[in-house]
Amino acid sequence: MSGLKKIQLVVNGAHVEADVEPRTSLADWLREPLHLTGTHVACEQGVCGACTVMVDGKPVRSCITWAVSCDGADVRTIEGFDDDPTMQRLREAFSREHGLQCGFCTPGMLVTARDIVLRLPGCDESRVRHELGGNLCRCTGYTGIVRAVSSVASPDGAIEPASSFAPPPLPRFEPAADTGHLRAPVTARIADAVEPGALISEAIVIRGCDSQRLWALLGDVGAAASCLPGARVDRYDGQTIAGAVRVAFGPIKAEFVGDGTVTRDEGRRRATIRGDAADARSRTSAKATITYRVEAEPGSADAARLVIGMDYDVQGPLAQFSRSDLVRSLVAQLVRDFGRNLEALAAGKSAPPSAGFSAFGLLWRWLAGRLRTLIGVGER
Ligand code: FES
Ligand code: FES
Repeated sequence: MSGLKKIQLVVNGAHVEADVEPRTSLADWLREPLHLTGTHVACEQGVCGACTVMVDGKPVRSCITWAVSCDGADVRTIEGFDDDPTMQRLREAFSREHGLQCGFCTPGMLVTARDIVLRLPGCDESRVRHELGGNLCRCTGYTGIVRAVSSVASPDGAIEPASSFAPPPLPRFEPAADTGHLRAPVTARIADAVEPGALISEAIVIRGCDSQRLWALLGDVGAAASCLPGARVDRYDGQTIAGAVRVAFGPIKAEFVGDGTVTRDEGRRRATIRGDAADARSRTSAKATITYRVEAEPGSADAARLVIGMDYDVQGPLAQFSRSDLVRSLVAQLVRDFGRNLEALAAGKSAPPSAGFSAFGLLWRWLAGRLRTLIGVGER
């Protein structure tokens, strides 16, 4: 039927082929035709985490993920973990520690919790709290949930697979005495690579230009600015940047105003942005260290790879939008949109299309601002 797109994917171990309307969310598609109603939907804006499922081994918000974008993917919902030993232990821990009341958030909590205990075995309670930050619960006050997840993640919990992997520390930011700007521990890590150790890391392939041209494009402040929506750059002198990002999330309006430093390593085609911003209305502040590097795309003379890493810390009432897995999902989409616009720019189109972040509002545009800062954009 016209307008429908055929997709083939694996859902809870079963091969599924279906014709899907392009704007159907993964959550709706799982719940309606597949009757996998363990995936709950609450905010439908990527904020609460109730709809979290695993896609290709990573937790994603199924309410803001198109079903068609999962063509070829491996999707696992809460129903797919019935026989999973780690999930079994988490279920018992939630029950033992009173980690649920109405249970609406619980499927998303459990899917996220399983990812945490397998990815960060041995992590402490504060890391559990941070990692669970993208899953909201209106009933429990979180104490029982955190206790449950911590008990399974703890060394005594002997979660499998056991690993000597030490969770990376949470980012800590300190004012640099000399500049007043941020100094983040990620600085040392990015000396060798962008993505290792970064809280968030994304890579995109930009087609239609080689790495030399892409690096030059990103150095053209005004042109690169047109690839990201939402930000206003008041000043950019090649080393420091100042501006603001207007934000709207439903009824919430915010304007993050801030500045930062920009360091570009021309020889290695790497750059680092450190900055902070604040929204006076909500009294929320944000600090970030963003790094990127441009590489040749192996096997292609007409494509280049852009690798982005980001550490951040948000303080204040809007901090809920900084929850790590939520940010990860949104940054991934944002980077894809940014990549598309960069490709358009490389193709000589003067006005790349707007990403149109619409419903993702606040966080989406806040991240656009952070990434705009990342590439050192500005308007002269
Ligand atoms: S329903 Fe998807 S994040 Fe809230
Ligand atoms: S148990 Fe009710 S929302 Fe979490």
